[in-house]
Amino acid sequence: MNSNNNPIGIFDSGIGGTSIWKEIHHLLPNEKTIYLADSKNAPYGQKSKEEIIALSMKNTEFLLNMKCKLIVVACNTATTNAIEELREKYDVPFIGIEPAIKPAVSHSKTQIIGILATQGTLNSALFNKTTEKYQDTKIIEQIGHGLVQLIEQGGINSPEMAKLLRSYLTPMIEANIDYLVLGCSHYPYLIPQIKKILPTHIQIIDSGEAVAKQTQKILREKTGFSSAEKGEPIFYTNTDSKVLAEILENKYTLEKIDF
Ligand code: SIN
Repeated sequence: MNSNNNPIGIFDSGIGGTSIWKEIHHLLPNEKTIYLADSKNAPYGQKSKEEIIALSMKNTEFLLNMKCKLIVVACNTATTNAIEELREKYDVPFIGIEPAIKPAVSHSKTQIIGILATQGTLNSALFNKTTEKYQDTKIIEQIGHGLVQLIEQGGINSPEMAKLLRSYLTPMIEANIDYLVLGCSHYPYLIPQIKKILPTHIQIIDSGEAVAKQTQKILREKTGFSSAEKGEPIFYTNTDSKVLAEILENKYTLEKIDF
């Protein structure tokens, strides 16, 4: 296997995809990573498919200019709406993030699961094609209106967040779900808040670890691993970087770009 020291590129509509970046950096610490937070255009969840494709292409071109060997679309909304178009247009491997419906369905005992995601993800053709496969399980879909905006504004622990989450999760609890799928890369940052609302028997699943493993597989099969001893991350953001810095526990240098 040839080594390849070019970076892995990761983009999201904002800071949420850092939940995916953390898993990748943990599994592949030798790999250099470049993270692009398009917070200026967040949220993507209420934009049209055409707008999401255009933004995803702009993000991809930024990362390709940085010589990325592989691109992780760390945004469910961009994956479900734009990944096919990205794969058609650019000659680089793309890894997307899709809600972890399959493991939730296969482990559910009540055969009722809940999914919390953006409007763009839940209405996408790709998502609906996935759920059609699971006719024997009831899948309760809930749009997380307002959650991404609040996270981007630094409101993870705000009373407003607790109120929104309670209103979205209560009907699912009453419907007897035993798995809750987080279908947006921003939402893992809400897990402590969600746990305060859900009864302990309800399991929460997100896709971060699976995306990291898939990234490792594609490096092995297609692009090659880095031979560096340590992979330094670089974070780019096109808004005030305070919330991104906090979410990364002020451990890394952030580059503010006009993008
Ligand atoms: C959004 O920008 O609306 C959320 C991103 C996602 O779906 O992961």
